[in-house]
Amino acid sequence: MGAAVLILFLFSAVSAGELPQGKGKCLVERKCQACHGLKNLIESKGISRKEWEDVVEEMKDYGLEVTEKEEKEIVDYLSKYLGPEKERAGSSNPR
Ligand code: HEC
Repeated sequence: MGAAVLILFLFSAVSAGELPQGKGKCLVERKCQACHGLKNLIESKGISRKEWEDVVEEMKDYGLEVTEKEEKEIVDYLSKYLGPEKERAGSSNPR
């Protein structure tokens, strides 16, 4: 378990630089890394705004604490920068 946590931690440190710059990035980094790395977010890249809303709702069930304003900013960021393919430009996602 200890090793797994360490690996997760290392992963999150590596992935921290991978989020695209944009409004809300700091908030996402601050809020969404409390329990897991940003790797989770990056792996879910490409889902719709509705799906990101559902993800954030799910995270609230896990214990994520955000105000309504923060939640909107997070969903805005996620759907804009980690949203469906057509809304992204110049992504280097190797898939
Ligand atoms: C209170 C703890 C907590 C916070 C804060 C949190 N998450 Fe999670 N998240 C979890 C847990 C628990 C899981 C499921 C187990 C895992 O994959 O680590 C998870 C999994 C995920 C997944 C994988 C897919 C899924 O639905 O299981 C994504 C994507 C995700 N989180 C996004 C976010 C985003 C975006 C934020 C910030 C808005 C966030 N998380 C903040 C606890 C949290």
